[in-house]
Amino acid sequence: MLLSLALSVLVAEARADGAATYASLCSSCHGAAGAGDGVAGAGLPVKPANFTDPAFWNATRTDEYLKTVTTKGGAAVGKSPLMAPMGAGLSEAQLNELIAYLKTLKK
Ligand code: HEC
Repeated sequence: MLLSLALSVLVAEARADGAATYASLCSSCHGAAGAGDGVAGAGLPVKPANFTDPAFWNATRTDEYLKTVTTKGGAAVGKSPLMAPMGAGLSEAQLNELIAYLKTLKK
């Protein structure tokens, strides 16, 4: 009982941290709700990914893949370099929280 309470608090905190990281590093291009409609993304020739689109979340988008894109940039997976390496300064824990948060944006 206590353990599960502690665990759910931890999970809630991890989600909050992932959300904060997303808001500061990603939302300018990917949009506040992840729809790929951020202000900074609007002027780019390549549209930022829409994380709310269920089609985005196909089997190729594994955690490892998402971490590579986030830390090494789109070019590392054959995508546009306009997706810059954004998460290089994040700890492994922060990165995991961010990826977990990205998945909650799916509609
Ligand atoms: C300067 C704008 C910009 C910022 C900031 C940005 N991105 Fe992106 N991102 C892009 C663009 C543009 C693409 C589309 C690349 C393509 O389709 O070739 C993209 C695509 C992606 C993709 C999808 C790659 C795929 O398989 O199609 C992921 C995942 C991603 N970004 C994660 C993030 C995360 C996480 C952050 C914050 C840490 C972030 N991005 C911040 C511009 C940005």
